This record gives sequence, C-alpha cells and structure tokens, in this order.
Amino acid sequence: MNGFAVAVFLQVMHQTVAANGRSDETTVAGTLGENIILPCWNTATNVTPSFTRWMTNGQFTIERNHSIIIPISPSEGHLTILYNQSLYINRINLSDEGTYLCDSLPHNNKTQTSLTLQIVSGPDNSIIDIQPATPLSNGTLFVVRGSTVSFNCSSLSYPSQSLSWGFQGVASSNDSLAVGSGSWLDFRIEDVQPTAQGNYSCRAQNSISQKAAGSSTELLVYYSPERHPECLWNTGKDPSHVQFSCSWFGGYPSPTLFWGEKHQKSGSHGKQVAGQLMESEETDNLVVNLNRSLLFDGQILKCSGHHPTISPGEDKFCSFTLKSPYPEGEPLVTVVEGTNVTLTCTESISLPPALTRWQRTAQQEDVVSSPKYVLSEQGPTFTLTIVNITKQDEGFYFCRSENPLMVRELEIYLTVKATSQYTGAIIGIFLAILIVGSGIVIAKTIYSNRDRICLGNGFEQMGERGDVLSLVEADEEEVFHEAIPRLPPLPLTNGHNTTLVEIHTIPSIDHEDAEILEHPLQLEDRDIDELVTF
Ligand SMILES: *[C@@H]1O[C@H](CO)[C@@H](O)[C@H](O)[C@H]1NC(C)=O
Ligand SMILES: *[C@@H]1O[C@H](CO)[C@@H](O)[C@H](O)[C@H]1NC(C)=O
Ligand SMILES: *[C@@H]1O[C@H](CO)[C@@H](O)[C@H](O)[C@H]1NC(C)=O
Ligand SMILES: *[C@@H]1O[C@H](CO)[C@@H](O)[C@H](O)[C@H]1NC(C)=O
Ligand SMILES: *[C@@H]1O[C@H](CO)[C@@H](O)[C@H](O)[C@H]1NC(C)=O
Ligand SMILES: *[C@@H]1O[C@H](CO)[C@@H](O)[C@H](O)[C@H]1NC(C)=O
Ligand SMILES: *[C@@H]1O[C@H](CO)[C@@H](O)[C@H](O)[C@H]1NC(C)=O
Ligand SMILES: *[C@@H]1O[C@H](CO)[C@@H](O)[C@H](O)[C@H]1NC(C)=O
Ligand SMILES: *[C@@H]1O[C@H](CO)[C@@H](O)[C@H](O)[C@H]1NC(C)=O
Ligand SMILES: *[C@@H]1O[C@H](CO)[C@@H](O)[C@H](O)[C@H]1NC(C)=O
Ligand SMILES: *[C@@H]1O[C@H](CO)[C@@H](O)[C@H](O)[C@H]1NC(C)=O
Repeated sequence: MNGFAVAVFLQVMHQTVAANGRSDETTVAGTLGENIILPCWNTATNVTPSFTRWMTNGQFTIERNHSIIIPISPSEGHLTILYNQSLYINRINLSDEGTYLCDSLPHNNKTQTSLTLQIVSGPDNSIIDIQPATPLSNGTLFVVRGSTVSFNCSSLSYPSQSLSWGFQGVASSNDSLAVGSGSWLDFRIEDVQPTAQGNYSCRAQNSISQKAAGSSTELLVYYSPERHPECLWNTGKDPSHVQFSCSWFGGYPSPTLFWGEKHQKSGSHGKQVAGQLMESEETDNLVVNLNRSLLFDGQILKCSGHHPTISPGEDKFCSFTLKSPYPEGEPLVTVVEGTNVTLTCTESISLPPALTRWQRTAQQEDVVSSPKYVLSEQGPTFTLTIVNITKQDEGFYFCRSENPLMVRELEIYLTVKATSQYTGAIIGIFLAILIVGSGIVIAKTIYSNRDRICLGNGFEQMGERGDVLSLVEADEEEVFHEAIPRLPPLPLTNGHNTTLVEIHTIPSIDHEDAEILEHPLQLEDRDIDELVTF
C-alpha cells in the first residue's frame, strides 16, 4: 500500500446543501495509510465547546471533555479529537471506513450531520506481464515473429478501478486494445508480426479517486534471416589479396557474423581443434581482407551467423576450402611450320578462382591477343592459338595461373618442324639412297636406332632433328603426350613465402621408349597421306 504519507487527502464527493448552508450528508474519501481530519459541523456558532463525542456506524467511538488538557499529541493515537472538535485519524486503515457522527455540548438544535468516510487506495503495483518474451539489457522485451503472445496487466485499487491497454507503433499513434475493470486485464496476439512492434501501455484508474497510473513496455518483434549465410569472394587490389564476404540478409535485428578458420582433424589423434576467429561483427555483411601470408591450400574458411532468435547451438554457417591453382595440359607440343597450333590449358580446381594467362619465352612475357595469337577461354579451358607457325615460335610457353594462395605454371615446349617439300624431298632421296645403297642390314640398324633419334635427351636435340623426325611425328602431338604420366600435385608449403611459383617439370621420357614405339608405326600411314596432300 501506498506508505505513510503525511499529506491529507480529502475530497468531497457528494454534498447536499441544507437550507442553513451546512451539509446534512457528506462522503469523504480517505487514502489508505494516510491521515485525515473529519470536521464536526454540529457546534453552535461562536460557542466554545465543552464536550465532544464521535460515533462510528452508530457506535460510540471516542469522546473529549475540553476542560481537560490532553497531554498526548495527535500523531500518537489512531483517533484524536482536536481542540475544534474535528476527528483526526492517523494512518487510515480499512476498518476506519464508515459513517461518522459528532455530538457536542452545549447542544444546538440543528440537524445532525453525518460524514461517510470512503477509503480509497491505488492504483498501485501496476505490472505489465508479456509472455513469452525475452528481456534485453535495457529492459526492452522481444518476442519471435509467429509466436502467440499474451499480455496481462494487473494493478491494485480500492474499491475498484478501470484498466486499459494502449498501443503505439510505427503505424498506430495510440490504439486502444482492451478496456476492463477488475484486478487484471489480459489479451493475446496470435502469430505476432513486425507490425505489432511498439510500445504497449497499461493505464489503471481508481474509480473513486480518479487517480491514474500507467506503465509502458517497448516490445520488439524479432525474426531470423530465412536462408543460410552466403560466403563469397572478391579479388583484392592485387592477386595476392582476397576479400571474403559473408552475407546473411533478411533478419531483424542484424545477425552477428563470425569469420574464422576451421581446423580439420589434426594428427592421428583425430582431435578437433577449435577454429580461430578472424573477425566478428553485428552486421548483415561481414568482409575480411586476407593476403597470401595467411592462406594455405586446404584451409577451410567458415562464416557462422548467430541471431537472437536462434539458440546458440543451432548457428547457421557457410564455408569453403581453399585450393591452389593447378593448370593442366600437354607439356610437349610439336607442330609443322606454316600451320596453326592451339595450346590448351585447363584450370578447374583453384579456389578462389585463379587468374590464368599465357606467357612465352624464358622472360615470361605476357601473350597478348593479336592476329598472331588468338586467345580464348571456355569455362575452365584456356587456349592459345598461334597462327602461321614459324621457326621463331619454337620455345617455351607458360600457362600461368595465380590465385590469392600462390602462382603455379604449366610449362609447354613447342617444337616447330620445317615442312617444305624441299625438305621432304631431301629426306626421301636420303632414305632411298640409304635403302638402295646400304641394304637391309644398314636400314635395320637405322630403324633400331630411330627411337633414340625421336626421343633424344633434350629439347635442343629434338629441335635440331625436327626435320628428320617430321616423317614419323608430323602434327601428332599425342605421340608424346599420351605416354607422359600426369604429374601428381606437388606438396605445398604453408604459403608463408611471399612468392610461390611452381612449374610442372617434364619428366625424363627415355624409359618410356618401349610404349612410344607403337605410335610411330601407326602414324606412318597417316604421314604418308599428309605428304600426298602437299
Ligand atoms: C480544526 O483544526 C485543525 C487543526 O488545527 C484544522 O486543520 C481544521 O481545519 C479545523 N477544522 C475546522 C472545521 O475548523
Ligand atoms: C468536564 O471536566 C470538568 C473538570 O474536570 C468537570 O467539572 C465537568 O463536569 C466535565 N464535564 C462533563 C460533561 O463531564
Ligand atoms: C486499523 O487500525 C486500528 C488502530 O491502529 C487497529 O486496531 C486495527 O486492527 C486496524 N485494522 C486493520 C484492518 O488493519
Ligand atoms: C433549542 O430548542 C428548544 C425548544 O425546541 C429551545 O427551548 C432552546 O432554547 C433552543 N436552543 C438553542 C440554543 O437555540
Ligand atoms: C533497447 O535496446 C534495443 C536493442 O538494442 C533497441 O532497439 C531499443 O530501442 C532500446 N530501447 C530503449 C528504450 O532504449
Ligand atoms: C494476470 O496477472 C494477475 C496478477 O498477476 C494474475 O492473477 C492473473 O491470473 C493473470 N491473468 C492471466 C490470464 O494470466
Ligand atoms: C495512449 O492511450 C493510453 C490509454 O488509452 C493513455 O494512457 C496514453 O497516455 C496515451 N498516450 C498518448 C501518447 O496519447
Ligand atoms: C517507445 O518508447 C520509447 C521510449 O519511450 C521510444 O524511444 C520509442 O520511439 C517508442 N516506440 C514507438 C514505436 O513509439
Ligand atoms: C598480410 O596480412 C598480415 C596481417 O593482416 C600483415 O601483417 C601483412 O603485412 C600483410 N602482408 C602484405 C604483403 O600485405
Ligand atoms: C590459321 O588461323 C587463321 C586465323 O585464325 C585462319 O585464317 C587460317 O585459315 C588458319 N589456317 C589453318 C591451316 O587452319
Ligand atoms: C605466314 O608467314 C610467312 C612468313 O612470315 C609469310 O610469308 C606468309 O604469308 C604467312 N602466311 C599467312 C597465311 O599469313
């Protein structure tokens, strides 16, 4: 109850004015716990009273002989008759409610005037209860979209009160949601939507004293983003930098995103090591900038999103596993002068995607598109067509693939052979002379040594002997390539060097002779066809 206020609350509710100007019946409201003075109007004018008696509900309550000085002060007793006959009630309680009548000596002949004391209290203890709702640190509550929310407002008033619920949202200035009397008033919202977000106020008003009290609560309606977070990458300011972005839109409020590194099972113990956090923020879109020194092949980057509407164990995430570039293609290509040749390189595993381009010569100059060089790109396949091959086109070509992890190159050696009929004629004559002049034994010797001629120990030799080889190899790159085993991926360092360039090396192919032997035999027929067309 409302404490022990010293103030006197006195309100005249109803008065019937008698002909003599005095009231014959009066209701007085007294606030519970406070003090009140009830006047005695029965005293004859200008007469000093000698004796006063107060009756409550027809029963004798207290009297006072004014010739006797009372040593006690009014605040000590519950009821005191003051010098002017008024009744002082200290700290009104409910049992004080009733009709009071005063009587005094000397008597006067007026109508007796009674006073009705009405006790009032409240509204007190106004409480807003919203269920189920979660409080934030500042006291604001939130509920989850789609849930059913009950609102209950309670307040204590005596003898009665009226209660009302009001709502103030973005679209509603002050809507009345419910009105009632009683000690509490409730209502429900089913399938609560963001439009229900706003301030809910409950007002309680004492029906006797009209005293009002209210309380208000801010309610937020939260909802989680519908899908999973999305992990994306953007190339940075140069190929050794990368921007990983994680976005998770559509939630309220914004989720908290965490970019981290997820460790795979480490060692034989299979122990799961906690991921290392790189960055976190309360945002829809979190971007981290990383450079080569922090990245390595096989690294798993993971973005987890947390939202207040999702329990911490059910965080949603996206991730990807980084892969170094690995350009693949045929490392040895032989071509006839005057024709066109197309070099092919496939880069399909790099993540983030690599920047792949062609370079040539030991100086690794970029190959730019021109009538001589036709560059094209189809999905993961990059091709370089060299038009009208000349001897100057012979040499190294590089398919250079770079992603934020590292640079890796496929090295291709292009061998150019002369094709002139002149050369063909010389070879023809030369072979004829050998066959006719030296006989089968010598021819057999040449034949048995042919593989060594074909597959000499170095490119230089091959280049020099191109003319001789043209008969058996012309235009058929497969001769070599089918026999060269694919290189296994080279073991990677952890990417702590600033520049990592790996080049596919061409393995020694001497020991492959036996397998390759078959191809020249098959190709000889085709070679003859081609020679015929010249
Ligand atoms: C009686 O005395 C009290 C205290 O002095 C005063 O507050 C009250 O107004 C007086 N009542 C009348 C009817 O004069
Ligand atoms: C009031 O007190 C005086 C003095 O004690 C006494 O003479 C008188 O009779 C008393 N009056 C009443 C009505 O009792
Ligand atoms: C009201 O106050 C009187 C006097 O102090 C006390 O005797 C009585 O028990 C109280 N009644 C209630 C309901 O508190
Ligand atoms: C009250 O009335 C009676 C008769 O009805 C009269 O004798 C008496 O004088 C009156 N008293 C006063 C104070 O007016
Ligand atoms: C309480 O905090 C929430 C979220 O931080 C905010 O949206 C709301 O406006 C705050 N309310 C008040 C009254 O400060
Ligand atoms: C509302 O609150 C009051 C007081 O706490 C309680 O007595 C009443 O049962 C509640 N009403 C509902 C519907 O929960
Ligand atoms: C809104 O209405 C409630 C009760 O209906 C009232 O208590 C409150 O003061 C009003 N607020 C405004 C800003 O009008
Ligand atoms: C709710 O009340 C708070 C503080 O009183 C205020 O900052 C906020 O703007 C109100 N919200 C609405 C929707 O009226
Ligand atoms: C790469 O990033 C790390 C950490 O942010 C930084 O210390 C380092 O200087 C960066 N290196 C380069 C080359 O930008
Ligand atoms: C070589 O390429 C050029 C340009 O694309 C083309 O005009 C020409 O016909 C091609 N020659 C052969 C033999 O394919
Ligand atoms: C190919 O190059 C040679 C030598 O540069 C030139 O003579 C010939 O005209 C070129 N052929 C074509 C089709 O461009």
